[in-house]
Amino acid sequence: MFVSRARAASGARAALAGGVRLAITSDIHIDLNGEPVLDALCARVRAVAPDVLIVAGDIATGAATFLSTLLALKACAPELLVVAGNHDVWTSPAARSQGIDSWTWLDKLLPALCTEAGARLLDAAPVVLGNVGFAGSLGWYDLTLREHLLDVPSDAYTRGTFAGVMWNDFRFAFFDDGAGKALPCAAVADILRARLGDHLASLSCKRVVVATHTLAFERQVFRKERDAWRFVNAFMGSLKLGELIAADRRVELAIAGHTHIASDFRMGRLRALVSPLGYRKEWRAPDVAGAVEKALAVVDL
Ligand SMILES: [Fe+2]
Ligand SMILES: [Fe+2]
Repeated sequence: MFVSRARAASGARAALAGGVRLAITSDIHIDLNGEPVLDALCARVRAVAPDVLIVAGDIATGAATFLSTLLALKACAPELLVVAGNHDVWTSPAARSQGIDSWTWLDKLLPALCTEAGARLLDAAPVVLGNVGFAGSLGWYDLTLREHLLDVPSDAYTRGTFAGVMWNDFRFAFFDDGAGKALPCAAVADILRARLGDHLASLSCKRVVVATHTLAFERQVFRKERDAWRFVNAFMGSLKLGELIAADRRVELAIAGHTHIASDFRMGRLRALVSPLGYRKEWRAPDVAGAVEKALAVVDL
């Protein structure tokens, strides 16, 4: 159902009593892609006139750009729902020495920045708009999407390096185990999946949209022959996350990001959508406007 800009402007709550127009994207990486990209994205969001804009993570590394990005996006849509991406919870050795790890970003800094911008961080709490519940999570990876036939040294997945590449989360993401050591990725994935399960359980809506940053389904993974690519696929997400989402029969739309490769398919009643912007070098569109137009999916619920 089409929702006019005039109706959206008259108040998201009123609009959401009827149909709801979602604009969806992820992986906008504004710290790397630059402000002109944000301007173009804002123009596209305004043209689409959604009731709800959803950004499924990898918004910007660093508090200042994260906040300015959300402020700009919130000015374009009545509701802005976001989930954290792995880049959004990156920390540094200097910050870690002051006790700022990825949990600090996820549980304290990002919620505060979202509140300041008037956005809602689904990692912190689910949101109900009209008759639709929205739940979300950064998610994480637990190696369930790894390529089992890839011959890697036994410690490759714990060190995050193989075939000449290093998965950057091993440099910049650090989820403290409470004793100053990094939690294994599967433990992080378990914790965040349990949180999402709690959020879903707390929703009493009959219709639910889930947004995660990391992938949840095998079909969302782009398989290539190159060993480095095959290795990195292990860090794309978690099949267990997909099992949780698919088990909730109220979920009609599952949004993800992280991969920078778009996909859109149905599994029965569930539509799984990935609509990322990604890095400039990955764009196939001829210009910024074309790239953001491609990256901003519109779903009328
Ligand atoms: Fe990304
Ligand atoms: Fe990511």
